[in-house]
Amino acid sequence: MNGIKLTTERIVLRPWEESDAEALYEYAKDDRVGPAAGWPVHQSIDESREIIRTVFMQEGVFAVTLPGDDKAIGCIGVIRGAKSNMPIGEDEGEISYWIGVPFWGRGLIPEAMHRVIRYAFEDLRLKNLWCGYFDGNEKSKRAQKKCGFRYHHTCDKTYCALTGDYRIEHVSLLTFEDWLKSRPD
Ligand SMILES: CC(C)(COP(=O)(O)OP(=O)(O)OC[C@H]1O[C@@H](n2cnc3c(N)ncnc32)[C@H](O)[C@@H]1OP(=O)(O)O)[C@@H](O)C(=O)NCCC(=O)NCCS
Repeated sequence: MNGIKLTTERIVLRPWEESDAEALYEYAKDDRVGPAAGWPVHQSIDESREIIRTVFMQEGVFAVTLPGDDKAIGCIGVIRGAKSNMPIGEDEGEISYWIGVPFWGRGLIPEAMHRVIRYAFEDLRLKNLWCGYFDGNEKSKRAQKKCGFRYHHTCDKTYCALTGDYRIEHVSLLTFEDWLKSRPD
């Protein structure tokens, strides 16, 4: 199990726990969140608990919380190689994320992404980070751009196993070299 905590000025990223089920359900039952990211709205607290157990409780996946308040308000993860949804090598990772609607527009996910990117390059020693967004998801496109990701290619027919449909997915890349060049410190 991954016991790592990552912090920034406005965010604490910590491992998921089964006791986060109620908070997860509160945000994941909103149809503005999951479907944009390729997963269906949660139907019950039990379903949220099951997702935590089977999907979120793994290395590299973090609950997004605010300092001084342990409630999970979003999720961000970097998944390596074969475990990711992309055909990438074991020294590469896919970053995915969402945050509850009441917290949109405060730049919290870009801030969390910057921290996870540092973790992926410095601690996990990955060489490339990939991020996808489905056609029309301008909010996610903006978040990736703010974190230094550059457009790489488009998949015209990506199958979303969880929602059972095909979508156009735009894929962007951040290489270790590009990150080193853009880093402020
Ligand atoms: C995509 C997402 C993670 C962005 O997180 P965030 O912390 O709100 O990111 P930001 O505050 O940087 O906002 C990103 C863009 O969203 C748009 N935006 C911000 N607040 C908004 C709001 N209340 N309503 C609509 N759009 C909004 C803006 O265009 C903003 O870009 P800008 O700052 O350049 O104007 C969040 O919108 C989300 O969870 N969406 C649903 C799930 C999802 O799409 N996940 C990504 C799958 S690839």
